[in-house]
Amino acid sequence: MITPVVYSESGGTYKTTMTANLAVALNRMGLDVLVLDLDPQEGNLTTLFDVGEHRSDPDADNLVKHILEQPDGEFADLIETSEEGIDIVPSHDMLGDFTSNLEQKISYETSMQNISRDEYPRFKLLHRLLWEEEALQEEYDAVLIDPNARAEDLLYNAIFALRTLVAPVKPAGKGNLSLDGLEELVGNMEQQLEIQIGLSCVVPSGVGQTNAHRQYKKQFEDTDAFATPVAIADRESLMDAMWEARGSAFKVVEERWKTFEQDGEMVSEPGQRRIRDREIDTLTKLYQLAHFVATETFDADVDPVLELDIEGHETRTIDLRETEQTEVKA
Ligand SMILES: Nc1ncnc2c1ncn2[C@@H]1O[C@H](COP(=O)(O)OP(=O)(O)OP(=O)(O)O)[C@@H](O)[C@H]1O
Ligand SMILES: [Mg+2]
Repeated sequence: MITPVVYSESGGTYKTTMTANLAVALNRMGLDVLVLDLDPQEGNLTTLFDVGEHRSDPDADNLVKHILEQPDGEFADLIETSEEGIDIVPSHDMLGDFTSNLEQKISYETSMQNISRDEYPRFKLLHRLLWEEEALQEEYDAVLIDPNARAEDLLYNAIFALRTLVAPVKPAGKGNLSLDGLEELVGNMEQQLEIQIGLSCVVPSGVGQTNAHRQYKKQFEDTDAFATPVAIADRESLMDAMWEARGSAFKVVEERWKTFEQDGEMVSEPGQRRIRDREIDTLTKLYQLAHFVATETFDADVDPVLELDIEGHETRTIDLRETEQTEVKA
């Protein structure tokens, strides 16, 4: 079972983008993949994959009701399948009120059962739902979560359930190793949840061409404190197009989605994007990242070959067995 949570403390570190690309890459390695979207904000993974039609309907059954043991239907009916074949439990507005709903449940149950609030397993509810109630390990090879950014109940539930972090970091300032915050956070969580949390790897993301950025990336690659299998370059055009293609970066390139100006308006269409080596290289990096997580962190057996079926072009083959020795650093 492959269970990473893409997480870093700060907002806008490309978490949702990375979760989406990781999910699609794992799927294309031959795995059955489910993603839970725990972020109630606009511009989340649910928006990206164009699912969650009922996310603002207060009466609709949703993940919060299932976590709090008040479901209105089957868990399986929450799952939607994206065009690329990823299963998704979409976000719902109720995720924004998770803690207050949880408090009510705790008040009720602790008074009924005469236990103290401190004894209530408030961070273990998602774990119970996913693995005990729904036994998702029997249906999926990989379950990913795009968590809400704030360190509170939902995030703790996500980490308690999945146990493994992939941490994207953005170059900041003069390129110091600004991971102290993350290490402290992981330490605190381990103590509070009384579990071991694994850090699969750190992924410098949005790395540009400047000397400061290069140095930053090198510093990460040179440290032994954690694995840095790849760095993801600054690829605004490619990643922003994902929101128009409503899918992964693989989809953007294969369907050749491009945003451009036409008669004074911005439009996005498939079949327009030029094929650029640097973007193919970024897809290779994303595939390497998924491969690292699957094989090095979770010891799974996956397909190292990716066929890119690019519209109007010859198929491009990415074979990680050829790039491994030279580029991947465990
Ligand atoms: N490698 C990249 N280079 C440049 N821009 C990127 C890259 N990856 C993603 N982006 C863009 O950055 C923006 C923010 O990305 P994303 O939504 O994934 O961040 P996030 O960490 O999930 O944000 P939040 O904290 O709000 O949940 C998006 O517009 C996305 O297209
Ligand atoms: Mg996000």
